[in-house]
Amino acid sequence: MSVESIAEALAHCDVPDMIAEQVGSMPAGRLSTAARQAAIQERYGRIAETADQAGCGGGGADADVLSAQLGYTPDELASVPSGGNLGLGCGTPLAMASLKPGETVLDLGSGAGLDCFLAARRVGDHERVIGMDMTPAMIARSRHNAQSQGNRYANVEFRLGEIEHLPVADASVDVILSNCVINLASNKRQVFQEAYRVLKSGGRLAISDIVASREIPPEWREDVALWTGCMAGAAPIDEIETLLTNIGFAAVRIVPQSGSHEFIREWGPNTPLTAYVVSAAIEALKP
Ligand SMILES: C[S@@+](CC[C@H](N)C(=O)[O-])C[C@H]1O[C@@H](n2cnc3c(N)ncnc32)[C@H](O)[C@@H]1O
Repeated sequence: MSVESIAEALAHCDVPDMIAEQVGSMPAGRLSTAARQAAIQERYGRIAETADQAGCGGGGADADVLSAQLGYTPDELASVPSGGNLGLGCGTPLAMASLKPGETVLDLGSGAGLDCFLAARRVGDHERVIGMDMTPAMIARSRHNAQSQGNRYANVEFRLGEIEHLPVADASVDVILSNCVINLASNKRQVFQEAYRVLKSGGRLAISDIVASREIPPEWREDVALWTGCMAGAAPIDEIETLLTNIGFAAVRIVPQSGSHEFIREWGPNTPLTAYVVSAAIEALKP
């Protein structure tokens, strides 16, 4: 892909000039991790501030309608503080997490707090739920959502940080959730290594994410709008399986969700890339 076409994608994505300049000064076909991170923060910061776009890749449908399509129940959606669901997920990690009272939960890329608020109801008032996100406006929004309910979510804490460098103690977490986030990370090995570090022995991963079902053409991987829209960064299923196994996880299970093509198509009606990716349920255990 040429520098010109990346610049065109950036213009479409409405990212700041600073990022466009960084890309403009790079050799053709190379998008730096820093530029990608900045574009992710810009996109999700704008969504946090305006809530004007539901669906990771866009689409603009009502957030609750989208989340109901993913499997969230009307009861669950009604229980979440207003503004806590921005319709940015691609699955229902809680449905596979089997949370029990007393467990400590960490949500990687917690957005406006949806899965954290639901997890808090399941683990009990005295157990900790930690949401992590690198976009300051998202963290501000999730904290505001929690505070709007008085003490109801006193056990839920939102921390600003990157999932590649978790500000969380070793062996302190029972369950790691994540919904439509790890595809956005440039260094997925580091994310899973960090997840392994903070999990207790016997702790588990319950992740919904976009994965590649076919090899993604390299030029699309350099398209910042497709990356921030949760498609271009998708890793192949066998690569994720190998990564998790090599790090030391056991009972690795990655199940593509066949119905997901329907909502993914809406994220990018004008890109054929939607046919290369699928939402998957990813589970694993730290022995
Ligand atoms: C598609 S949204 C999903 C939000 C939330 N999980 C949900 O289901 O509503 C992705 C979120 O991940 C955050 N994010 C992306 N890459 C990240 C990283 N490397 N570290 C921390 N947060 C990240 C973004 O800021 C954004 O809030």
